[in-house]
Amino acid sequence: MSFNPLKEKGLPLEKQLRNWHQIAARPYKKQLADAYTRVRQIFLNGIEVEAWGFKHQLNRYLSNIDGKDRELISRMGRIENQQQMTCNWLCPSNQSVLETTLGYEQVAVDLTAYLAQVEPDNYVKETFDFGLLEDFDHLYRYAQFAYTKENVKPDDIVQNKTDVILGRTTQFHHNCNALRLRKPYDKNKTCPRTKVNILTLLSAEQQTHNFYAEHGFMYGDQILRETYAEIKDVEEEHVTMYESLIAPDETMFEKLLLHEFCEVCNYYSCYQDEECNDIKKYWEIFLEIELEHLKIAADLFKKYEKRDPYEIIGEETFITSRFESQKSYVQKVLNKEVNKRLKENGEFYYSLDEIPNDWASYEVQTKTSEVSSPSENAVRIAFLQNGIDVTSIDKNLKNLEFELLEKGMQKQGAACNTVQKEEYLTAMKKFEEKKELKSKKI
Ligand SMILES: [Fe+2]
Ligand SMILES: [Fe+2]
Ligand SMILES: [Fe+2]
Ligand SMILES: [Fe+2]
Repeated sequence: MSFNPLKEKGLPLEKQLRNWHQIAARPYKKQLADAYTRVRQIFLNGIEVEAWGFKHQLNRYLSNIDGKDRELISRMGRIENQQQMTCNWLCPSNQSVLETTLGYEQVAVDLTAYLAQVEPDNYVKETFDFGLLEDFDHLYRYAQFAYTKENVKPDDIVQNKTDVILGRTTQFHHNCNALRLRKPYDKNKTCPRTKVNILTLLSAEQQTHNFYAEHGFMYGDQILRETYAEIKDVEEEHVTMYESLIAPDETMFEKLLLHEFCEVCNYYSCYQDEECNDIKKYWEIFLEIELEHLKIAADLFKKYEKRDPYEIIGEETFITSRFESQKSYVQKVLNKEVNKRLKENGEFYYSLDEIPNDWASYEVQTKTSEVSSPSENAVRIAFLQNGIDVTSIDKNLKNLEFELLEKGMQKQGAACNTVQKEEYLTAMKKFEEKKELKSKKI
């Protein structure tokens, strides 16, 4: 059934203010929560952070608007702020930073994989696929620390819905900014679905960056601190990459309309899929709030631009965040694209054997990893402590692990502490021997 958001009833703005008890709502139970309940909570916080920040940008940079419209925007911003608090604070206090971090990367992997499959624009889809393999590898790196520091196995968090294994190796995610910039869409020719897909993913990536910036220092372990710093920098690249797809000539009111539409689509998606009733009720009320914000944005767009809002958002609401296991899609992309690298001028990609010797990203990689790559040390620590790296893999992928490592390895720009295929194989052999010895003793 189609859901035309501008025809649905929202909650009037004067009824949207909530009390402190409602704002600081009771968190979900860490031990009982479904992985995708956690994922939706993390994700929707990112949507609200962007919605809130954008209102402030509007009021800072918009000139020539009526005072009462400025007030309207600031009142909406206050509601976004209250929603953001509720979304973020549904996270339980006994969930560690590393556990939440695994949740963040699970959001990135499963959201990007979903969006890549529903994205109608091939260029945008390819950009999503490229970013997907990077967040996939982040999940693997953080999983090493979650186990070695806190005895948390990946499936304690991802609950077998997402594979945890190396992807495109993190040390090779560092690029020259000129290469990260992709080509923007044409705002007059691009469909609403593509615009809202990009804004959805951009919001999630931006919040991942913010979370690492605000929490990476909370661990005393220097290698873990450096790994947060390294991966946070990749999230900065992801923000750069996804925002560069957006047409820079969209007007501010056009952007406001798309932001509110993005919120409607994502609450609509998460409300439909959420199984925990204690959490679902928030997605329901927040959907009603966003329907009203969208109407206000549409009125402002009509008033200041004298255009029809349907030109920008169309007449239907999209499922922009369906969280479900994406293992087979991710495996397909891994096999096909682990050796891809960014090309100049927003062009499609190099495969490793095509990269020119003066590729601009080599300089960034060599500089940032000149002492060592922390995300490689993450695996070395796991070897030292457990004898083997920490993974949670679908059977089909197990045999491909070392093939992937070899296929994605750069000769130039690699850090001196890079874990080589032979080291993985030796660690695995030793681990198997020890396991056999143990079983004999018993
Ligand atoms: Fe909101
Ligand atoms: Fe990531
Ligand atoms: Fe990312
Ligand atoms: Fe909103």
